[in-house]
Amino acid sequence: MTFKPAKWPRRLRSREWYEGSTKDAIYHRGWLKNQGYPDDLFDGRPIIGILNTWSELTPCNGHLRELAEKVKAGIWEAGGFPVEVPVFSASENTFRPTAMMFRNLAAMSIEEQIRGQPMDGCVLMVGCDKTTPSLLMAAASCDLPSIVVTGGPMLNGWFQGERVGTGTHLWRFSEAVKAGEMDQETFLEAENAVTRSAGTCNTMGTASSMASMTEALGMALSGNAAIPAVDSRRRVMAQLSGRRIVQMVKDDLKPSDILTKQAFENAVRVNGAIGGSTNAVVHLLAIAGRIEVDFTLDDWDRCGRDVPTIVNLQPSGDYLMEEFFYAGGLPVVLRQMGEAGLLHRDALTVSGGPIWDEVKSVRNGNSDVIRSFENALTAQGGMAVLRGNLAPKGAILKPSAASPHLMQHKGRAVVFEDIDDYKARIADPDLDVDETCILVLKNCGPKGYPGMAEVGNMGLPPKVLKKGIKDMIRISDARMSGTAYGTVILHTSPEAAAGGPLAIVQNGDMIDVDVAARRLHLDIPDEELAARLSEWKPTFEHAASGYAWLHQAHVEGADTGADLDFLKGCRGSPVGKDSH
Ligand code: FES
Repeated sequence: MTFKPAKWPRRLRSREWYEGSTKDAIYHRGWLKNQGYPDDLFDGRPIIGILNTWSELTPCNGHLRELAEKVKAGIWEAGGFPVEVPVFSASENTFRPTAMMFRNLAAMSIEEQIRGQPMDGCVLMVGCDKTTPSLLMAAASCDLPSIVVTGGPMLNGWFQGERVGTGTHLWRFSEAVKAGEMDQETFLEAENAVTRSAGTCNTMGTASSMASMTEALGMALSGNAAIPAVDSRRRVMAQLSGRRIVQMVKDDLKPSDILTKQAFENAVRVNGAIGGSTNAVVHLLAIAGRIEVDFTLDDWDRCGRDVPTIVNLQPSGDYLMEEFFYAGGLPVVLRQMGEAGLLHRDALTVSGGPIWDEVKSVRNGNSDVIRSFENALTAQGGMAVLRGNLAPKGAILKPSAASPHLMQHKGRAVVFEDIDDYKARIADPDLDVDETCILVLKNCGPKGYPGMAEVGNMGLPPKVLKKGIKDMIRISDARMSGTAYGTVILHTSPEAAAGGPLAIVQNGDMIDVDVAARRLHLDIPDEELAARLSEWKPTFEHAASGYAWLHQAHVEGADTGADLDFLKGCRGSPVGKDSH
């Protein structure tokens, strides 16, 4: 795609606030000047909002205030006027009931912060899982020039001579304790070894996946995703991004120029190549919905189906983000994909040019971390989208995180009505379950939980774990952490709380899973299925008020991104009336 820059100089939207000698203009300039800005800064230069998700309760983004200073330096250097603005920060590791319930609230509030304030362009400072999609959704709905700066992953964790990945090893250690293979004291000792520096999760979990998605979509400068949070090159990246956004405003290079169908297809293929998080599915669908690009769940299967996973990172592989960076990071992956015919090379990025120009000359620094396609980690990366009478609108499974022997399996359902039911009974020695069964968890979707928590990778029953079994098929309408693994079927749509067929599965029903055939089938007669559905009554509690009420009343299914129905679409950034 060829981008034609707009003419410069021209009048920017911030002039609506600061231009002239009216009472309103004097009022607006006067207030901003109380922070010590001279007159000549109000000469029509681009005003850049640095939208910062820094929060001490979003520890993954805890260093973003410091990083914002480098962004500011870049903006000043390029002749812009930076203003740092705190925005809603939904931390994955603190927010309850789940950060995902607040992704849309964050996106809604940030959209209005952009639209209602004097900004000509935005730097989106993000990192933790939900902060990246929420700001991208907001920026897409406003369509002002925007660039993403992620905080970067934390350094490798090490414990007892082994690399330990955030999240991934928490699940592993926790299962080992339940199986009697690790004592509690060792588990507690590991706590301090896992998160040893500033930054986001160091596995190819959701944060790293979304950082990679952002780069693949073209919304960040090349190389942004993998630089560790504490590496000096992260600060350089921030400064360069600050410089770049000023030129983007002058050129009027907007998200709608970059976030095209081609860009989303590139991102889907990249997710397959990196062994990325299942959460990227729901986030990319939501971002596409905001920019009004026709991009669906089927595109995930179609584009990702034949992409081998070549990035050897936990949870699918061995290494962590630090090694990915030393090997060259995402540009190396993009180059190899371009050479293999798996990349739309002319997709536009924030650079103003095609993505291929950014990556065509990079070199692979470690061919065990970033493999060749001939020596791939798994032949089938990507996401398998399963359908059938149990998931008429689709469900997803990440083949690279699943067990090959379970990819075609018929098993007896062991049903949990909700997460409390699961917690109450999973450890019961009398639970009628063995490793051939399929665990079914209901009412954990966008409406039901509410917020679609990351509980889909529910732990196995201790009585099964004690036999040395590491994996069973699990089916739910929940999500799972990007750092998790297993043969886990997620996002089953429609969800149980919306009356999807998952709601009427009973203990003892047989379920047929065939990943190669993309089939998820409840093995009961059609008439029986229809009869059960007609008798179904919701069992989940609808919130009586507040944001939880709004969320449950308006959230859409995971198959279209779980956005609020009234937030879909691009509403632009018109300036409103003002009078003081
Ligand atoms: Fe915030 Fe993983 S919990 S990045």
